[in-house]
Amino acid sequence: MTRANDELSNAAVAAEAPVASGESLAEGSAPIAATTRTGARAQAPVRVGMLGCGVVGTGILRLLRDNAGTIEGRLGAPIEVVGIAVRDPSRLRGDIVPAGIVTTDALALAIREDVDVVVEVMGGLEPAGTYVRAAIAAGKHVVTANKALLAEEGDALLESAEARGVDLYFEAAVAGGIPVIRVLREGLASDRVIALRGIVNGTSNYVLSRMQHEGLDFEVVLRAAQEAGYAEADPFLDVSGGDAAHKLAILATLAYGARVHPSQIAKEGIDVVGAVDMRYARRFGFVIKPLAVARPSTWAGEEALDLRVHPALVKESSVLASIGGALNAVFIEGAMLGPCLMSGPGAGALPTAMSVVSDIVDVGRNMLVDAHARVPTRAFRGESLVPMRVRPAAEHRCRWYLRFGVSDQAGVLSRIAGVLGGFDVSIEQMVQEGGRGGSDDRATLVMLTHEAREGDVREALSEIARLAYCHEPPRALRVEEDA
Ligand code: NDP
Ligand code: HSE
Repeated sequence: MTRANDELSNAAVAAEAPVASGESLAEGSAPIAATTRTGARAQAPVRVGMLGCGVVGTGILRLLRDNAGTIEGRLGAPIEVVGIAVRDPSRLRGDIVPAGIVTTDALALAIREDVDVVVEVMGGLEPAGTYVRAAIAAGKHVVTANKALLAEEGDALLESAEARGVDLYFEAAVAGGIPVIRVLREGLASDRVIALRGIVNGTSNYVLSRMQHEGLDFEVVLRAAQEAGYAEADPFLDVSGGDAAHKLAILATLAYGARVHPSQIAKEGIDVVGAVDMRYARRFGFVIKPLAVARPSTWAGEEALDLRVHPALVKESSVLASIGGALNAVFIEGAMLGPCLMSGPGAGALPTAMSVVSDIVDVGRNMLVDAHARVPTRAFRGESLVPMRVRPAAEHRCRWYLRFGVSDQAGVLSRIAGVLGGFDVSIEQMVQEGGRGGSDDRATLVMLTHEAREGDVREALSEIARLAYCHEPPRALRVEEDA
């Protein structure tokens, strides 16, 4: 399918306005639908009711307009948006929103007779959860980008969708435009995943990358990420690691057949990283990246999962070190496959819209041949999903980057080293800066430790933080060797 075909098809689409109800937004704009590449109706359109029309929603409308011919060639039917629910219909959304199909009654749209697929791109747990539950109960297929909702309530929603015989797809919920859900669900159906790690929050990666390369302040770059449409409505979810934990819970379920709740994931946000840490990390040969890790482990002699979301030092020469800006990357190691790396845009209107619309195409294909639930949505059949023990964060062992702001006095270094040694934390390398000859008596001590247990490191640091000559809370970042 060529771009010219798509444009021809769009011209045909623009000639046929869909029947619509609700409050009008953009008068005279082109409808988003609905004929074949040749202009003849081959199959009835797949009719979409869209809940939300912000960054992702407007991206979906643009993609449906620009790729109409390609999509129809692949699906065998056009996709037609028959209704759009928003909170504030007066908000300007450019000329992409078709006239006459906007409503503020999301619940009514979710169960409307003429809707086949409900696309939820509203975000948050409520009222989005209520609308998705209502849609499923009404026999609608659902496509959502809402990782918070899936991570918190995915089991119940997916089970009710299975029971109702409808599809609930969510490719856009993890890593934006990277088709990692499909890879785990279908491409790796015959393999065991022995490690999964990656960068799954575009905002955090964007913020750390620009801080590092351009020396910009955290707040300035975060605002830029919001303006670019990468951040969540509440960007605290991004910078605190909450969004990545939602995504990791979803990935761990698909990779390991485990029922994982985000509260089981040890998480730390990028707000603990200062520009100074990036500089020191570089002196040791590392870059700081926002990582998510899920791998099988053992704890107290039994199988457990190691699940973590945190900024980490990765070797400058590693693949993940080269993933910059809002890009995401997911590295999966299969027992038979070996290593497999996927990277691409993890956030933003069009990459995310691409994943959403590909899900609509998949649902449409299922509708055309009446074959729902052929592939289990969580990769494993519901009855084989198990609750898995999660290894406590304190048991994690790795090398550590430690930074202390201290008075430059005799004996301080040996006291700190002594406390660390008392907790079995041994120093591999050290740098000291500032202090005598500088503007005050303060010095910065930065250490790279040998491998140490997290619980021991934390205890040592809280003892050091209580020492009178320690001027600020010690900073600790993990080193991820295999990234
Ligand atoms: P936006 O905040 O840009 O858009 C949200 C939309 O939902 C808006 O149109 C808003 O209406 C509408 N909305 C919110 N609450 C209600 C309500 N109670 N009733 C009716 N409409 C409502 O969010 P995004 O498009 O960025 O994100 C949407 C979803 O996609 C989220 O779950 C997000 O996590 C996920 N996602 C986002 C990505 C991104 O790059 N932005 C990437 C991957 C996933 P109004 O416009 O009137 O305010
Ligand atoms: N806020 C999310 C991010 C959007 O920055 O990764 C994509 O899920």
